[in-house]
Amino acid sequence: MSDLFIKNTVLENGQNADILIINGKIAEVSSSIEGISDDTPKIDADGWLASPPFIDSHFHLDATLSYGMPRINQSGTLLEGISLWGELKPTLKMDELIERADNLCRWSIAKGTLAIRSHVDVSGKDLLGVEAMLQVREKFKDFLDIQLVAFPQDGLFRSGCLDNLNKALDMGVDVVGGIPHFERTAAQGNESIKILCEIAEKRGLLVDMHCDESDDPFSRQIEHLTLETARLGLFERVAGSHLTSMHSMDNYYFSKLLPMMQEAKMGIIANPLINITLQGRHDTYPKRRGMTRVKEQINAGLRVAFGHDCVMDPWYPLGSHDMLEVASMALHVAHMTGQNEMKECFHAITQYPAQIMHLENYGLKKGCNGDLVILQATTPVEALRLKPARLFVIKKGQIISTEMPKSSKITIGEETYNVSFTQKDFSWYGTR
Ligand code: FE2
Repeated sequence: MSDLFIKNTVLENGQNADILIINGKIAEVSSSIEGISDDTPKIDADGWLASPPFIDSHFHLDATLSYGMPRINQSGTLLEGISLWGELKPTLKMDELIERADNLCRWSIAKGTLAIRSHVDVSGKDLLGVEAMLQVREKFKDFLDIQLVAFPQDGLFRSGCLDNLNKALDMGVDVVGGIPHFERTAAQGNESIKILCEIAEKRGLLVDMHCDESDDPFSRQIEHLTLETARLGLFERVAGSHLTSMHSMDNYYFSKLLPMMQEAKMGIIANPLINITLQGRHDTYPKRRGMTRVKEQINAGLRVAFGHDCVMDPWYPLGSHDMLEVASMALHVAHMTGQNEMKECFHAITQYPAQIMHLENYGLKKGCNGDLVILQATTPVEALRLKPARLFVIKKGQIISTEMPKSSKITIGEETYNVSFTQKDFSWYGTR
C-alpha cells in the first residue's frame, strides 16, 4: 500500500488529469492537484494515457509456455490440441508448471495486465495443476488478481471428474467451469450444465463455461446455460466462454437466443486470437472466422470481454500476453472499426471483464484501487493501433513495471525527426 502522485496524464475521455494515490487507493483525480508534500513519490506521465489495468478473463496458466511439448499440433485444430494436452498431462511436474506460469505472470505484469481468470484442468488422475496454480496465485497475490476456474477439460461425464472438481473447489479454486459441448452427447452436456450450476449456487460461486466452442451451428448449449442461470437465479454470475458456434448459427435462431442471454444477464468471453485460429479448420472457402457475434452482443447491452486464452501452448504457438493485441484482433475480425466500436473493444479488456469477474474497486475514480497503466498513447484507440510501451504499471500505488518510451530518430537531409507513431508526432497536437 503506497502513496503516489501521477502528474500530467490524460484520461480516456480526453481530459487532462493528475492522479493522487494515498495508501493504495485513488484519493483524487482532477485537472490539477496542488499542495503535494515533498515526501510523496511522484512521476510525470508527460501527457500520456492513464488506463485502468488490463484484464485477461480467459486463460490457461497450467498449459501456458509448453509449446512443442511433447510435439507440435499438426492439424491446428482444437481437438488435436486437446489430445496433445492429454499426452502432456501425465508428464507434468509441479516445479515446471510453477516455473512456466510464473514466467507468464511476469509477462502479464509487464504488459499492464493485472487480473487473470485462469481455467485449471481438473480432469486428470490428480490435481497437480490445481496445487501448482494455487501456489502461483498466492505468490502473486499482491501484484496480480488471479481467479482460478475448476475446468473439466476432458468432460465432466466423459472423464468422470466430478469428485476432482469438488475437491479443487474445496482447495480454494474460485469459479465453477465446464465444457458441455465436449461431453459425449448434447443431452449429457445439458446435464453437466445443470449439475455445475447447482454446485455454484450451493457454494455461492461464479460460473464460467467453455461453451459451444465449435463450428457446429446446432451446438446450442448456451441455450441451456441461460435456462439454468435463470432457474437458479445466478444472474450476472455466469459467463459463457467462446460461444463460437454462434458465428455459424442461423440468424432466426440467434434472434431467439439473444433475448434469452439478456434475460439471464449472461457475461460473454470471446477469445479472438484463438477462435479465428482454431475454428473453420474443416472449411475450404469461404472460411468461417469462428468468433462469436460480438458486435450484436455489445449492441444488446451484454457484457462482452476478450480473453487471450493461450500463449505458446498445445493450441496456439504465438503471443506475449498483450491484451491490446487481443482487442486489436477482435475489432478487425468483428468489423468494429467505428470510433465507439473501437472504444467498446478497449472496454472488453478493461471494465467489462472487471464486471464479469466481480472485481471490486476497479477503475480510475476516487475510492478505486490505485491500480493503473500509463501507456505511450494519447487515446484508447491509439493504444489499440500501436500496442505501445507500458511506461508505468502501478499496483496499489506501487510502480511494479516500467518501460522506456519507443522512439525512432530519422534523418532526412539536414533535418532530424523523432518518430513515435502517436499523435504527438503531428505539429498540431495539443492545439485542437
Ligand atoms: Fe479456454
